Amino acid sequence: MTETNFVNNKKKKENTMFKDYFKYYKSRNPPPKLDDVIDIDSACKKVIQVDVKDVDNTKTFIVDKWGLKATSTWKIYKFTDIPGLIFIRNPFTSIGQRYWITKCLRDYSRKPNKLNIDAHDIIDDQENWWSIYKSDNEKSKNIVGKLRWATLGYHHNWDTKYYSENDKSPVPYELNEMTKLLSNYLGFNNFNAEAAIVNYYRMNSTLAGHVDHSENNMDAPLFSISFGQTAIFLIGGLSQQEPAYPIYIKSGDVIVMSGESRLRYHGVPKILRDENLNWKQDNPDEANIFVDSDDWNKASDYIDDARININIRQVLKIGQTSLTDNYHSN
Ligand code: SIN
Repeated sequence: MTETNFVNNKKKKENTMFKDYFKYYKSRNPPPKLDDVIDIDSACKKVIQVDVKDVDNTKTFIVDKWGLKATSTWKIYKFTDIPGLIFIRNPFTSIGQRYWITKCLRDYSRKPNKLNIDAHDIIDDQENWWSIYKSDNEKSKNIVGKLRWATLGYHHNWDTKYYSENDKSPVPYELNEMTKLLSNYLGFNNFNAEAAIVNYYRMNSTLAGHVDHSENNMDAPLFSISFGQTAIFLIGGLSQQEPAYPIYIKSGDVIVMSGESRLRYHGVPKILRDENLNWKQDNPDEANIFVDSDDWNKASDYIDDARININIRQVLKIGQTSLTDNYHSN
């Protein structure tokens, strides 16, 4: 596999599968060329900026809740070759990003949510990941990079890939409300956040290619919201045999996988350092949400070398009240 024109080489593209792209962008030695990675702000061929009116012409409201900017400033894109994939270019204020980063680190990394480190048996009953992280001792140094995921709501079962009515905790109110604002604005009415995975990436972390198909309701969109360092996100086709598009995802960016794109292979082969650090910028006009400054100072150290992704799903079909509900659609 040559290093140059990896994506644009037509012959290669036809024969290249998702895993080849993953391997190419994951490589450290040699590092990948990044010329083909789609930067949504400057991409013009594969991406169409959508006029908000075309998304839902009934929406003129201004959102200044949950750390979101006024909707009049949002930039929304669709992809010519990937039906159903929607990209919102960072609709969050700087302080809004700080709010969500702090939430993910301080609040979502504790019970009743489930964490990968539960299995390591390193957290006592009186402690949680955040209290240990904050204590700045030997244990803290040991535990900080071990946090990889938290599951909220219906807990994702990594082995069976099935949700269970007996294995769920509440989806945090603010997370459901913020996702509802996004979904209503995009015209996906009736979305309800019923399961979420928070992925915590260090600079050397990757997420292997996969399809999210555990939800009963595959018609509802999946919202994927990222903060901190930049990712190369790969989105392929409906089978692993198809090639993939590499796209930069930066802090605050929202990806919505709806329609056909909901079943496409996707993954994260690389994390890169963000150049703008827009979550650090201070803008008093944007102070629309409260973030405790001591907590932020700790969270800020963490996110200097990390990326956080929250992906939020609706599990049940509309009208279904639980997974044991004998629901039949009309
Ligand atoms: C996922 O697909 O589960 C997460 C993708 C991301 O981290 O952007």
